[in-house]
Amino acid sequence: MHVQARMQPSVPTRIVTTATHRAPPIPPPGPSSEPKSVEQVGVPLQLTHDVIPGDNPQTPEKIALGEKLFFDGRLSVDGTVACSTCHDPRRAFTDGRATSIGVDGRIGQRNSPTIMNALYNKTQFWDGRAATLEQQAALPMINPSEMGQPTLDAVVAGIASDAQYTDAFQRVFGRAPNITDVTRAIAAYERTQIAYDTPFDHFIAGETNAIGDDAKRGWQLFNTRGRCNKCHALTDTKLDPTNFTDNDFHNIGVNIVRHDVVALARQAEKLLASGELPEVDRAAIQSDLSVLGRFLVTKKQPDTAAFKTPDIRNVLVTAPYFHDGSQQTLWDVMDHYNKGAGLRDPWLDQDIQPLALTENEIDDMVAFMASLTTPEYAELGRTELARQRSQALVSRPQRDTKRAFGPKPVQPKPPSP
Ligand code: HEC
Ligand code: HEC
Repeated sequence: MHVQARMQPSVPTRIVTTATHRAPPIPPPGPSSEPKSVEQVGVPLQLTHDVIPGDNPQTPEKIALGEKLFFDGRLSVDGTVACSTCHDPRRAFTDGRATSIGVDGRIGQRNSPTIMNALYNKTQFWDGRAATLEQQAALPMINPSEMGQPTLDAVVAGIASDAQYTDAFQRVFGRAPNITDVTRAIAAYERTQIAYDTPFDHFIAGETNAIGDDAKRGWQLFNTRGRCNKCHALTDTKLDPTNFTDNDFHNIGVNIVRHDVVALARQAEKLLASGELPEVDRAAIQSDLSVLGRFLVTKKQPDTAAFKTPDIRNVLVTAPYFHDGSQQTLWDVMDHYNKGAGLRDPWLDQDIQPLALTENEIDDMVAFMASLTTPEYAELGRTELARQRSQALVSRPQRDTKRAFGPKPVQPKPPSP
Protein backbone atom coordinates (compact mmCIF):
# COMPACT_ATOMS: atom_id res chain seq x y z
CA MET A 1 0.00 0.00 0.00
CA HIS A 2 1.23 3.49 -0.85
CA VAL A 3 0.23 6.50 1.19
CA GLN A 4 0.47 9.99 -0.23
CA ALA A 5 -0.24 13.06 1.84
CA ARG A 6 -1.81 15.75 -0.29
CA MET A 7 -3.09 19.17 0.59
CA GLN A 8 -6.28 20.22 -1.16
CA PRO A 9 -7.50 23.78 -0.79
CA SER A 10 -9.56 22.84 2.23
CA VAL A 11 -10.11 19.24 3.31
CA PRO A 12 -6.76 17.52 3.97
CA THR A 13 -6.95 14.25 2.05
CA ARG A 14 -5.02 11.14 2.89
CA ILE A 15 -5.07 8.90 -0.15
CA VAL A 16 -4.13 5.25 0.05
CA THR A 17 -3.84 3.23 -3.17
CA THR A 18 -3.64 -0.44 -4.06
CA ALA A 19 -0.18 -1.76 -4.98
CA THR A 20 -1.30 -2.05 -8.62
CA HIS A 21 -2.64 1.53 -8.81
CA ARG A 22 -5.63 0.13 -10.69
CA ALA A 23 -9.28 -0.42 -10.03
CA PRO A 24 -10.54 -4.01 -10.50
CA PRO A 25 -12.07 -4.87 -13.93
CA ILE A 26 -15.51 -3.34 -14.52
CA PRO A 27 -18.29 -5.84 -13.72
CA PRO A 28 -20.56 -6.30 -16.76
CA PRO A 29 -24.36 -6.28 -16.77
CA GLY A 30 -25.96 -9.73 -16.51
CA PRO A 31 -29.11 -11.54 -15.40
CA SER A 32 -28.95 -10.02 -11.90
CA SER A 33 -28.74 -6.44 -13.23
CA GLU A 34 -32.03 -6.58 -15.11
CA PRO A 35 -34.89 -4.33 -13.98
CA LYS A 36 -37.02 -6.12 -11.38
CA SER A 37 -40.74 -6.69 -11.48
CA VAL A 38 -42.97 -5.07 -8.86
CA GLU A 39 -44.90 -8.35 -8.79
CA GLN A 40 -42.82 -9.70 -5.91
CA VAL A 41 -44.18 -10.93 -2.61
CA GLY A 42 -43.79 -8.15 -0.04
CA VAL A 43 -43.37 -5.12 -2.35
CA PRO A 44 -44.99 -2.02 -0.81
CA LEU A 45 -46.86 -1.05 -4.01
CA GLN A 46 -48.17 2.35 -2.96
CA LEU A 47 -44.78 3.43 -1.59
CA THR A 48 -43.02 2.17 -4.73
CA HIS A 49 -45.32 4.37 -6.77
CA ASP A 50 -45.00 7.38 -4.45
CA VAL A 51 -41.18 7.53 -4.44
CA ILE A 52 -40.96 8.17 -8.21
CA PRO A 53 -40.33 11.94 -8.56
CA GLY A 54 -42.82 13.86 -10.68
CA ASP A 55 -40.09 15.31 -12.89
CA ASN A 56 -38.47 11.94 -13.63
CA PRO A 57 -41.10 9.37 -14.60
CA GLN A 58 -39.99 5.79 -15.36
CA THR A 59 -39.99 4.76 -19.04
CA PRO A 60 -38.46 1.57 -20.48
CA GLU A 61 -36.14 3.51 -22.81
CA LYS A 62 -34.90 5.78 -20.02
CA ILE A 63 -34.27 2.77 -17.78
CA ALA A 64 -32.28 1.04 -20.56
CA LEU A 65 -30.21 4.20 -21.05
CA GLY A 66 -29.58 4.42 -17.30
CA GLU A 67 -28.46 0.79 -17.19
CA LYS A 68 -25.99 1.38 -20.02
CA LEU A 69 -24.54 4.41 -18.19
CA PHE A 70 -24.33 2.48 -14.90
CA PHE A 71 -21.95 -0.07 -16.45
CA ASP A 72 -19.96 2.40 -18.60
CA GLY A 73 -16.34 3.17 -17.63
CA ARG A 74 -16.44 6.26 -19.84
CA LEU A 75 -18.13 8.10 -16.98
CA SER A 76 -14.72 8.05 -15.26
CA VAL A 77 -11.66 10.14 -16.07
CA ASP A 78 -9.63 7.32 -17.64
CA GLY A 79 -12.32 4.83 -18.61
CA THR A 80 -11.43 2.33 -15.86
CA VAL A 81 -14.24 2.80 -13.33
CA ALA A 82 -18.02 2.47 -13.70
CA CYS A 83 -20.75 2.65 -11.08
CA SER A 84 -20.76 -1.15 -11.25
CA THR A 85 -17.09 -1.27 -10.17
CA CYS A 86 -18.31 -0.67 -6.62
CA HIS A 87 -21.94 -1.75 -7.12
CA ASP A 88 -21.54 -5.17 -8.78
CA PRO A 89 -24.89 -6.84 -9.53
CA ARG A 90 -23.32 -10.27 -8.89
CA ARG A 91 -22.90 -9.22 -5.23
CA ALA A 92 -26.26 -7.51 -4.79
CA PHE A 93 -24.70 -4.27 -6.08
CA THR A 94 -21.83 -4.10 -3.57
CA ASP A 95 -18.10 -4.82 -4.03
CA GLY A 96 -17.27 -7.25 -1.23
CA ARG A 97 -14.49 -4.97 0.05
CA ALA A 98 -14.15 -3.18 3.37
CA THR A 99 -13.91 0.14 1.51
CA SER A 100 -14.18 0.79 -2.23
CA ILE A 101 -11.48 1.22 -4.90
CA GLY A 102 -11.69 3.93 -7.57
CA VAL A 103 -9.43 5.38 -10.29
CA ASP A 104 -5.67 4.75 -9.93
CA GLY A 105 -6.49 2.13 -7.31
CA ARG A 106 -7.43 4.78 -4.76
CA ILE A 107 -9.02 3.29 -1.66
CA GLY A 108 -11.81 5.32 -0.06
CA GLN A 109 -12.95 5.50 3.56
CA ARG A 110 -16.42 4.01 3.23
CA ASN A 111 -18.05 0.66 2.50
CA SER A 112 -20.17 0.47 -0.64
CA PRO A 113 -23.86 0.00 0.23
CA THR A 114 -26.23 -1.86 -2.07
CA ILE A 115 -28.35 0.24 -4.41
CA MET A 116 -31.18 -2.31 -4.11
CA ASN A 117 -34.18 -0.70 -2.42
CA ALA A 118 -32.25 2.61 -2.35
CA LEU A 119 -35.31 4.08 -4.10
CA TYR A 120 -37.06 3.98 -0.71
CA ASN A 121 -34.28 5.83 1.19
CA LYS A 122 -35.29 9.23 2.54
CA THR A 123 -31.65 10.31 2.08
CA GLN A 124 -28.67 8.78 0.24
CA PHE A 125 -25.19 7.87 1.59
CA TRP A 126 -24.26 6.65 5.07
CA ASP A 127 -24.49 10.24 6.33
CA GLY A 128 -27.49 11.24 4.19
CA ARG A 129 -25.60 14.04 2.45
CA ALA A 130 -27.56 13.58 -0.80
CA ALA A 131 -31.31 14.08 -0.86
CA THR A 132 -32.18 12.08 -3.98
CA LEU A 133 -30.76 9.39 -6.25
CA GLU A 134 -30.35 12.05 -8.96
CA GLN A 135 -28.26 14.27 -6.67
CA GLN A 136 -26.29 11.28 -5.40
CA ALA A 137 -25.26 10.01 -8.86
CA ALA A 138 -23.22 13.09 -9.82
CA LEU A 139 -20.95 12.99 -6.76
CA PRO A 140 -18.90 9.81 -7.43
CA MET A 141 -18.21 11.06 -10.97
CA ILE A 142 -16.21 14.04 -9.66
CA ASN A 143 -14.80 12.49 -6.48
CA PRO A 144 -11.02 12.11 -7.08
CA SER A 145 -10.97 8.71 -5.35
CA GLU A 146 -13.96 7.30 -7.24
CA MET A 147 -14.44 8.21 -10.92
CA GLY A 148 -12.01 11.13 -10.82
CA GLN A 149 -13.51 13.45 -13.43
CA PRO A 150 -12.35 17.08 -13.19
CA THR A 151 -15.88 18.45 -13.82
CA LEU A 152 -19.38 17.27 -14.65
CA ASP A 153 -18.98 18.95 -18.06
CA ALA A 154 -16.15 16.50 -18.74
CA VAL A 155 -18.54 13.63 -17.99
CA VAL A 156 -21.09 14.98 -20.45
CA ALA A 157 -18.42 15.59 -23.12
CA GLY A 158 -17.33 11.94 -22.86
CA ILE A 159 -20.90 10.73 -23.39
CA ALA A 160 -21.78 13.24 -26.13
CA SER A 161 -18.94 12.00 -28.32
CA ASP A 162 -20.79 8.70 -28.81
CA ALA A 163 -23.52 8.85 -31.48
CA GLN A 164 -25.45 5.98 -29.83
CA TYR A 165 -25.73 8.03 -26.66
CA THR A 166 -26.72 11.27 -28.42
CA ASP A 167 -29.46 9.34 -30.26
CA ALA A 168 -30.67 7.74 -27.05
CA PHE A 169 -30.76 11.06 -25.13
CA GLN A 170 -32.63 12.63 -28.06
CA ARG A 171 -35.24 9.85 -27.96
CA VAL A 172 -35.64 9.83 -24.17
CA PHE A 173 -35.27 13.52 -23.25
CA GLY A 174 -35.63 15.29 -26.63
CA ARG A 175 -32.24 17.02 -26.35
CA ALA A 176 -28.48 16.53 -26.35
CA PRO A 177 -26.86 14.89 -23.28
CA ASN A 178 -26.54 17.09 -20.18
CA ILE A 179 -25.71 16.17 -16.59
CA THR A 180 -29.28 16.52 -15.29
CA ASP A 181 -30.53 13.97 -17.80
CA VAL A 182 -27.54 11.66 -17.20
CA THR A 183 -28.36 11.48 -13.49
CA ARG A 184 -32.09 11.16 -14.21
CA ALA A 185 -31.50 8.13 -16.44
CA ILE A 186 -29.20 6.47 -13.89
CA ALA A 187 -31.69 7.13 -11.07
CA ALA A 188 -34.53 5.69 -13.17
CA TYR A 189 -32.50 2.50 -13.63
CA GLU A 190 -31.67 2.31 -9.91
CA ARG A 191 -35.39 2.63 -9.08
CA THR A 192 -35.97 -0.70 -10.85
CA GLN A 193 -33.73 -2.55 -8.36
CA ILE A 194 -36.45 -3.67 -5.99
CA ALA A 195 -35.52 -6.41 -3.51
CA TYR A 196 -38.36 -8.43 -1.92
CA ASP A 197 -39.71 -11.96 -2.54
CA THR A 198 -37.34 -13.34 0.10
CA PRO A 199 -38.22 -16.43 2.17
CA PHE A 200 -39.02 -13.98 5.00
CA ASP A 201 -41.46 -12.03 2.76
CA HIS A 202 -43.20 -15.32 1.93
CA PHE A 203 -43.41 -16.10 5.64
CA ILE A 204 -44.97 -12.69 6.39
CA ALA A 205 -47.42 -13.29 3.53
CA GLY A 206 -48.67 -16.41 5.33
CA GLU A 207 -46.48 -19.29 4.11
CA THR A 208 -45.62 -20.54 7.58
CA ASN A 209 -42.96 -22.96 6.36
CA ALA A 210 -41.05 -20.50 4.15
CA ILE A 211 -38.44 -19.99 6.89
CA GLY A 212 -37.06 -22.28 9.57
CA ASP A 213 -37.89 -22.24 13.29
CA ASP A 214 -34.50 -20.63 13.98
CA ALA A 215 -35.30 -17.67 11.69
CA LYS A 216 -38.77 -17.37 13.29
CA ARG A 217 -37.18 -17.16 16.75
CA GLY A 218 -34.69 -14.61 15.34
CA TRP A 219 -37.54 -12.43 14.05
CA GLN A 220 -39.13 -12.52 17.53
CA LEU A 221 -35.83 -11.51 19.16
CA PHE A 222 -35.38 -8.77 16.55
CA ASN A 223 -38.53 -7.13 17.89
CA THR A 224 -38.04 -7.85 21.59
CA ARG A 225 -34.84 -8.52 23.58
CA GLY A 226 -32.60 -7.84 20.54
CA ARG A 227 -34.00 -4.29 20.37
CA CYS A 228 -33.23 -4.16 16.61
CA ASN A 229 -36.69 -2.78 15.81
CA LYS A 230 -35.81 0.39 17.79
CA CYS A 231 -33.96 1.52 14.66
CA HIS A 232 -34.49 -1.05 11.91
CA ALA A 233 -38.25 -0.33 11.70
CA LEU A 234 -40.39 2.75 11.29
CA THR A 235 -42.00 2.25 14.69
CA ASP A 236 -40.92 0.15 17.64
CA THR A 237 -44.45 -0.70 18.69
CA LYS A 238 -45.67 -2.39 15.49
CA LEU A 239 -44.03 -5.30 13.64
CA ASP A 240 -42.84 -3.63 10.44
CA PRO A 241 -41.10 -5.70 7.76
CA THR A 242 -41.28 -3.04 5.01
CA ASN A 243 -37.79 -1.53 4.81
CA PHE A 244 -35.96 -2.34 8.08
CA THR A 245 -35.00 1.28 8.64
CA ASP A 246 -36.27 4.31 10.53
CA ASN A 247 -34.58 6.56 7.93
CA ASP A 248 -32.67 8.12 10.79
CA PHE A 249 -29.05 8.40 11.97
CA HIS A 250 -27.52 6.82 15.07
CA ASN A 251 -24.17 6.46 16.71
CA ILE A 252 -23.95 2.72 17.37
CA GLY A 253 -20.31 2.80 18.47
CA VAL A 254 -18.55 1.55 15.34
CA ASN A 255 -14.82 2.15 15.85
CA ILE A 256 -15.19 5.57 17.39
CA VAL A 257 -12.54 5.05 20.09
CA ARG A 258 -9.85 4.62 17.43
CA HIS A 259 -10.07 8.31 16.50
CA ASP A 260 -9.67 11.66 18.22
CA VAL A 261 -13.20 12.62 17.32
CA VAL A 262 -13.29 15.92 19.19
CA ALA A 263 -10.25 17.28 17.34
CA LEU A 264 -11.65 16.04 14.02
CA ALA A 265 -14.99 17.74 14.70
CA ARG A 266 -13.26 21.08 15.35
CA GLN A 267 -11.34 20.66 12.09
CA ALA A 268 -14.52 19.81 10.17
CA GLU A 269 -16.35 22.86 11.50
CA LYS A 270 -13.63 25.10 10.10
CA LEU A 271 -12.92 23.28 6.85
CA LEU A 272 -16.49 22.61 5.83
CA ALA A 273 -17.86 26.01 6.75
CA SER A 274 -19.14 26.52 3.19
CA GLY A 275 -21.18 23.31 3.45
CA GLU A 276 -20.75 22.68 -0.29
CA LEU A 277 -21.78 19.17 -1.21
CA PRO A 278 -18.72 18.11 -3.30
CA GLU A 279 -16.54 19.32 -0.41
CA VAL A 280 -18.47 17.23 2.13
CA ASP A 281 -18.28 14.32 -0.33
CA ARG A 282 -14.49 14.51 -0.49
CA ALA A 283 -14.28 14.72 3.30
CA ALA A 284 -16.43 11.57 3.61
CA ILE A 285 -14.56 9.50 1.00
CA GLN A 286 -11.01 10.85 1.17
CA SER A 287 -10.20 12.09 4.66
CA ASP A 288 -10.06 11.12 8.32
CA LEU A 289 -13.09 13.37 8.85
CA SER A 290 -15.11 10.46 7.41
CA VAL A 291 -15.59 8.98 10.89
CA LEU A 292 -17.69 12.00 11.90
CA GLY A 293 -20.63 10.67 9.88
CA ARG A 294 -23.79 12.77 10.03
CA PHE A 295 -21.88 15.56 11.81
CA LEU A 296 -20.23 16.40 8.46
CA VAL A 297 -23.67 17.37 7.17
CA THR A 298 -25.35 18.98 10.20
CA LYS A 299 -22.33 20.11 12.35
CA LYS A 300 -24.47 19.22 15.39
CA GLN A 301 -22.61 17.53 18.23
CA PRO A 302 -25.20 14.76 18.90
CA ASP A 303 -24.72 13.67 15.26
CA THR A 304 -21.06 12.87 15.89
CA ALA A 305 -20.22 9.50 14.33
CA ALA A 306 -23.90 8.87 13.62
CA PHE A 307 -24.70 6.92 10.46
CA LYS A 308 -27.86 6.03 8.58
CA THR A 309 -29.74 2.89 9.60
CA PRO A 310 -29.41 0.66 6.51
CA ASP A 311 -32.09 -1.63 5.11
CA ILE A 312 -30.94 -5.19 5.75
CA ARG A 313 -32.51 -7.11 2.84
CA ASN A 314 -29.72 -9.11 1.16
CA VAL A 315 -27.41 -8.32 4.08
CA LEU A 316 -26.05 -11.89 4.07
CA VAL A 317 -24.50 -11.38 0.62
CA THR A 318 -23.19 -7.84 1.19
CA ALA A 319 -20.35 -8.44 3.70
CA PRO A 320 -18.27 -6.83 5.12
CA TYR A 321 -20.46 -4.68 7.34
CA PHE A 322 -20.95 -1.15 8.68
CA HIS A 323 -20.01 2.19 7.07
CA ASP A 324 -16.31 1.33 7.22
CA GLY A 325 -16.62 -2.38 6.39
CA SER A 326 -15.03 -3.17 9.75
CA GLN A 327 -17.04 -6.33 10.55
CA GLN A 328 -16.53 -9.53 8.60
CA THR A 329 -19.54 -11.67 9.44
CA LEU A 330 -23.09 -11.37 10.75
CA TRP A 331 -21.81 -13.08 13.92
CA ASP A 332 -19.38 -10.17 14.39
CA VAL A 333 -22.27 -7.72 13.91
CA MET A 334 -24.30 -9.61 16.54
CA ASP A 335 -21.34 -9.67 18.96
CA HIS A 336 -21.01 -5.90 18.51
CA TYR A 337 -24.66 -5.35 19.46
CA ASN A 338 -24.71 -8.03 22.18
CA LYS A 339 -21.97 -6.39 24.24
CA GLY A 340 -23.64 -2.97 23.95
CA ALA A 341 -20.78 -1.71 21.76
CA GLY A 342 -18.79 1.49 22.18
CA LEU A 343 -17.21 2.06 25.57
CA ARG A 344 -15.97 5.65 26.05
CA ASP A 345 -18.44 6.92 23.45
CA PRO A 346 -20.35 9.98 24.72
CA TRP A 347 -22.67 10.00 21.70
CA LEU A 348 -23.65 6.32 21.81
CA ASP A 349 -27.38 5.92 21.08
CA GLN A 350 -29.39 5.14 24.22
CA ASP A 351 -30.89 2.10 22.49
CA ILE A 352 -27.47 0.42 22.29
CA GLN A 353 -27.02 -1.58 25.49
CA PRO A 354 -25.92 -5.06 26.55
CA LEU A 355 -28.44 -7.62 25.23
CA ALA A 356 -27.54 -10.81 27.12
CA LEU A 357 -28.25 -12.98 24.07
CA THR A 358 -27.03 -16.57 24.27
CA GLU A 359 -25.01 -18.27 21.50
CA ASN A 360 -28.16 -20.08 20.31
CA GLU A 361 -30.04 -16.78 20.19
CA ILE A 362 -27.24 -15.18 18.16
CA ASP A 363 -27.43 -18.11 15.70
CA ASP A 364 -31.21 -17.56 15.46
CA MET A 365 -30.75 -13.87 14.64
CA VAL A 366 -28.24 -14.73 11.91
CA ALA A 367 -30.72 -17.29 10.51
CA PHE A 368 -33.37 -14.55 10.45
CA MET A 369 -31.06 -12.16 8.56
CA ALA A 370 -30.14 -14.96 6.12
CA SER A 371 -33.87 -15.35 5.35
CA LEU A 372 -33.84 -11.80 3.93
CA THR A 373 -31.96 -12.94 0.79
CA THR A 374 -33.69 -12.39 -2.57
CA PRO A 375 -34.12 -15.35 -4.98
CA GLU A 376 -31.37 -14.31 -7.43
CA TYR A 377 -28.82 -14.53 -4.62
CA ALA A 378 -30.17 -17.70 -2.95
CA GLU A 379 -27.21 -19.82 -4.07
CA LEU A 380 -24.64 -17.12 -3.24
CA GLY A 381 -26.36 -16.84 0.13
CA ARG A 382 -25.87 -20.54 0.90
CA THR A 383 -22.15 -20.33 0.07
CA GLU A 384 -21.79 -17.11 2.02
CA LEU A 385 -23.58 -18.46 5.10
CA ALA A 386 -21.26 -21.48 5.12
CA ARG A 387 -18.22 -19.22 4.70
CA GLN A 388 -19.29 -16.88 7.50
CA ARG A 389 -20.19 -19.78 9.79
CA SER A 390 -16.78 -21.41 9.38
CA GLN A 391 -15.03 -18.07 9.88
CA ALA A 392 -17.09 -17.45 13.03
CA LEU A 393 -16.02 -20.86 14.36
CA VAL A 394 -12.37 -19.79 14.37
CA SER A 395 -12.65 -16.04 14.96
CA ARG A 396 -15.11 -13.93 16.96
CA PRO A 397 -13.08 -10.75 17.61
CA GLN A 398 -16.08 -8.76 18.88
CA ARG A 399 -17.40 -11.40 21.30
CA ASP A 400 -17.37 -10.21 24.91
CA THR A 401 -19.72 -12.44 26.90
CA LYS A 402 -18.94 -10.73 30.20
CA ARG A 403 -20.08 -7.36 28.91
CA ALA A 404 -23.05 -8.87 27.06
CA PHE A 405 -24.40 -10.26 30.35
CA GLY A 406 -23.23 -7.34 32.49
CA PRO A 407 -24.84 -4.02 33.40
CA LYS A 408 -25.00 -1.06 31.01
CA PRO A 409 -21.72 0.83 31.52
CA VAL A 410 -21.78 4.46 32.60
CA GLN A 411 -21.61 6.63 29.50
CA PRO A 412 -19.16 9.55 29.52
CA LYS A 413 -20.59 13.05 29.05
CA PRO A 414 -19.93 14.82 25.73
CA PRO A 415 -17.06 17.31 25.96
CA SER A 416 -18.16 20.91 26.45
CA PRO A 417 -18.01 22.86 23.20
C1 HEC B 1 -15.22 3.82 -6.26
C2 HEC B 1 -16.41 3.16 -5.82
C3 HEC B 1 -17.75 3.73 -6.19
C4 HEC B 1 -18.18 4.15 -7.42
C5 HEC B 1 -17.40 4.23 -8.71
C6 HEC B 1 -19.55 4.51 -7.25
N1 HEC B 1 -19.95 4.30 -5.97
FE1 HEC B 1 -21.80 4.53 -5.22
N2 HEC B 1 -21.08 4.33 -3.36
C7 HEC B 1 -19.80 3.96 -3.05
C8 HEC B 1 -19.59 4.13 -1.62
C9 HEC B 1 -18.31 3.83 -0.87
C10 HEC B 1 -20.79 4.63 -1.10
C11 HEC B 1 -21.05 5.05 0.35
C12 HEC B 1 -20.38 6.40 0.52
C13 HEC B 1 -20.87 7.19 1.71
O1 HEC B 1 -21.94 6.89 2.21
O2 HEC B 1 -20.18 8.12 2.10
C14 HEC B 1 -21.73 4.73 -2.22
C15 HEC B 1 -23.06 5.11 -2.11
C16 HEC B 1 -23.96 5.06 -3.15
C17 HEC B 1 -25.40 5.21 -3.02
C18 HEC B 1 -26.15 5.46 -1.72
C19 HEC B 1 -26.89 4.22 -1.24
C20 HEC B 1 -27.44 4.38 0.17
O3 HEC B 1 -28.07 3.42 0.65
O4 HEC B 1 -27.25 5.41 0.81
C21 HEC B 1 -25.92 5.11 -4.28
C22 HEC B 1 -27.37 5.18 -4.66
C23 HEC B 1 -24.81 4.92 -5.19
N3 HEC B 1 -23.64 4.88 -4.47
C24 HEC B 1 -24.91 4.86 -6.58
C25 HEC B 1 -23.80 5.03 -7.42
C26 HEC B 1 -23.88 5.41 -8.81
C27 HEC B 1 -25.15 5.67 -9.58
C28 HEC B 1 -22.59 5.47 -9.29
C29 HEC B 1 -22.11 5.84 -10.66
C30 HEC B 1 -22.47 7.16 -11.13
C31 HEC B 1 -21.73 5.11 -8.16
N4 HEC B 1 -22.49 4.88 -7.06
C32 HEC B 1 -20.36 5.01 -8.27
C33 HEC B 1 -18.85 3.53 -3.94
C34 HEC B 1 -18.87 3.84 -5.28
C1 HEC C 1 -29.72 2.50 17.84
C2 HEC C 1 -30.14 2.09 16.54
C3 HEC C 1 -29.86 0.66 16.10
C4 HEC C 1 -30.16 -0.52 16.75
C5 HEC C 1 -30.80 -0.68 18.11
C6 HEC C 1 -29.73 -1.58 15.87
N1 HEC C 1 -29.19 -1.07 14.74
FE1 HEC C 1 -28.33 -2.13 13.22
N2 HEC C 1 -27.64 -0.43 12.41
C7 HEC C 1 -27.93 0.84 12.85
C8 HEC C 1 -27.07 1.80 12.18
C9 HEC C 1 -27.07 3.30 12.39
C10 HEC C 1 -26.23 1.04 11.33
C11 HEC C 1 -25.07 1.59 10.49
C12 HEC C 1 -23.93 1.87 11.45
C13 HEC C 1 -22.58 2.11 10.85
O1 HEC C 1 -22.32 1.63 9.75
O2 HEC C 1 -21.76 2.77 11.50
C14 HEC C 1 -26.63 -0.35 11.49
C15 HEC C 1 -26.07 -1.41 10.79
C16 HEC C 1 -26.50 -2.73 10.88
C17 HEC C 1 -26.03 -3.82 10.06
C18 HEC C 1 -24.97 -3.72 8.96
C19 HEC C 1 -25.61 -3.50 7.63
C20 HEC C 1 -24.62 -3.25 6.53
O3 HEC C 1 -25.05 -3.30 5.37
O4 HEC C 1 -23.44 -3.00 6.78
C21 HEC C 1 -26.72 -4.94 10.44
C22 HEC C 1 -26.58 -6.33 9.85
C23 HEC C 1 -27.59 -4.55 11.52
N3 HEC C 1 -27.43 -3.20 11.76
C24 HEC C 1 -28.44 -5.41 12.21
C25 HEC C 1 -28.98 -5.09 13.46
C26 HEC C 1 -29.52 -6.05 14.37
C27 HEC C 1 -29.62 -7.53 14.11
C28 HEC C 1 -29.88 -5.36 15.50
C29 HEC C 1 -30.41 -5.90 16.80
C30 HEC C 1 -29.54 -6.87 17.47
C31 HEC C 1 -29.60 -3.97 15.26
N4 HEC C 1 -29.05 -3.84 14.01
C32 HEC C 1 -29.85 -2.94 16.16
C33 HEC C 1 -28.83 1.18 13.83
C34 HEC C 1 -29.27 0.29 14.82
